[in-house]
Amino acid sequence: MTAQDVRTVADPDDISSNPSGNATFREVAQARMSRRSVIRGGTVVAAAGFLGAGVGTGTAAAAPERHGGSKPRPLGFKAVPAGTADAIAVPEGYTAQVLIPWGTPLHSRGPQWRKDASNTAAEQAAQVGMHHDGMSFFPLGAGPLGSRQGLLVLNHEYVDQVLLFPDGDAQMTKAKVDKALAAHGVTIAKVVQGKDGWKLADSRYNRRVTGSTPVTFSGPVGPDHPALQAENPPMGTLNNCSNGQTPWGTYLACEENWNGYFGTTDAAWKPNAQQARYGVAANSGYRWHTVDPRFDVAVNPNEINRFGWVVEIDPFDPDSTPVKRTALGRIKHEGATVTESRGRIVVYTGDDQDGEYVYKFVGSAPWRQLRALRRSPLDHGTLYVAKFNDDGSGEWLPLKHGTGPLTEANGWADQADVLLRTREAADAVGATKLDRPEWVAVHPDNKDVYLTLTNGSGWNNAVNPRKPNPYGHIVRWRERGGDNTALTFEWDIFLLAGDPEYDPRVELAAEDVFGSPDGLGFDRAGRLWIQTDVSNSVQNRPDRQHDNIGNNQMLVADPGTGEIRRFLVGPRGCEVTGFAMTPDQRTLFVNIQHPGEATPFWGAAPTPQNPNAVSSWPDHDSASRPRSATVVIRKKDGGVIGT
Ligand code: FEO
Ligand code: CA
Ligand code: CA
Repeated sequence: MTAQDVRTVADPDDISSNPSGNATFREVAQARMSRRSVIRGGTVVAAAGFLGAGVGTGTAAAAPERHGGSKPRPLGFKAVPAGTADAIAVPEGYTAQVLIPWGTPLHSRGPQWRKDASNTAAEQAAQVGMHHDGMSFFPLGAGPLGSRQGLLVLNHEYVDQVLLFPDGDAQMTKAKVDKALAAHGVTIAKVVQGKDGWKLADSRYNRRVTGSTPVTFSGPVGPDHPALQAENPPMGTLNNCSNGQTPWGTYLACEENWNGYFGTTDAAWKPNAQQARYGVAANSGYRWHTVDPRFDVAVNPNEINRFGWVVEIDPFDPDSTPVKRTALGRIKHEGATVTESRGRIVVYTGDDQDGEYVYKFVGSAPWRQLRALRRSPLDHGTLYVAKFNDDGSGEWLPLKHGTGPLTEANGWADQADVLLRTREAADAVGATKLDRPEWVAVHPDNKDVYLTLTNGSGWNNAVNPRKPNPYGHIVRWRERGGDNTALTFEWDIFLLAGDPEYDPRVELAAEDVFGSPDGLGFDRAGRLWIQTDVSNSVQNRPDRQHDNIGNNQMLVADPGTGEIRRFLVGPRGCEVTGFAMTPDQRTLFVNIQHPGEATPFWGAAPTPQNPNAVSSWPDHDSASRPRSATVVIRKKDGGVIGT
């Protein structure tokens, strides 16, 4: 969700730009849902899912699901009730500490945060960015030390221009664009645990990657590719939503709703098919194009081709240039979840828009072997897109030039062309439309893959078991033989989110209702952490059947038993996102994004005169404004989180 989405209330992610006739996931999932039961009141009941009685037999089992390889993991805390307070709520026995809110100087001698948002672009570039999102923790040191200090690397997805500038964004200027660019991107910050909790520490590693940082390209769409040539040098990463972490110690920042930054005032400009497929339009809510030709698609048409990629950043080399890894495709990447199988890396990535697809990249050789040859494991491999069949099976379809319909005769010039037009290539091979694919998480033991489908608008080709699907659901699959490089899988629905008061198909207990699952992560013990992003357009509203759900939140599920429990409730107007734990599992970092964003339930929208109209979290200072921040969660007894 972006700031301009709020102004129009409807979330453009809910509007499909996929005109293909591919089978929708709704069509296949309805058949599946009719043959199985889902989790009921903390107990898993009869099911014919892939973890239960066998897929495709058509016989419902009377025995409980086995959830092979997923041992029960007791949840040892008392559930947090749903709430609407302008505060963080965590279970009894836990603490929540605010760390590195937007505007925090990255170095102790850096520019101090100004409560009236009057920091300049240059100052913002030396401070923590706005709207924290996906995040990873890189330990500094081995053993216990690595759980007490590390590099926290986090994305800054977008900016709220009403809150970013003292006078709001009614007038757009080049200086404002520069500050907005500086508030985007990634923060790399050394954090250490002290007697009074975690704090930011001075370090040569501390740095920002912003919308203006020099970047380069690698893979089939290399830096010299004609489609990447523009008036300005390649720079910047934008709308970094979720993330990934490679086994060789780098960070992956994903570019999601990049199209929204581009526009034009040229009335004669019309998007071509490729641009339209990515939602590039003349109107941009940010209006940067009105003062900066870099963002004018009519003036600088190739700049858009530099966005929509997965960006690799080496947090341990402050001088390194971020690299856009083009072999992973060009979509609206939600995240890039990395796992390993037979020594090869596998990267799962959702394309978050209604009616889009889920992809995976499989390395061509063991990653250690490629690294030994000084080749990036992210440059050598095959990108696939998922097809979900209605018998519970699924297959990964290669997006490989010369394979299937992706031939020169059909207008596909080469592999670079396939990747620049990844969405169209996926249309051509017959991928299955999904209901806004967001995060992917891979179970640490049995390697099952879980995917949040956050919600759907109910448009004519709606893509889930419910139409409309305002609450979203979680799908999971098991790759053949538990091998994540495999090209076939068996899938199932883990749960339908929502409120049984309004939708009897929802089998969550009344005290555990939630909507719009988005962030997703496993801890080392195999507990599944679920973070929610209910749109502010419906949050808390009885007339939109979200009154029992409360503010956005985080829950934890035991995939072995199906038990679900609410763990955290965020302040007003926020979403909860970003999931990182220390290796000892005793510190959990999560992000609170866009507290205080315009929320119809709370009435007046924030203005430059009253930025705290919805929330004043975390400062609760009338002279300040709401700020995204990382929250550090610990058990008071120092124990493992969730136990
Ligand atoms: Fe940036 Fe799809 O959430
Ligand atoms: Ca998200
Ligand atoms: Ca979302």
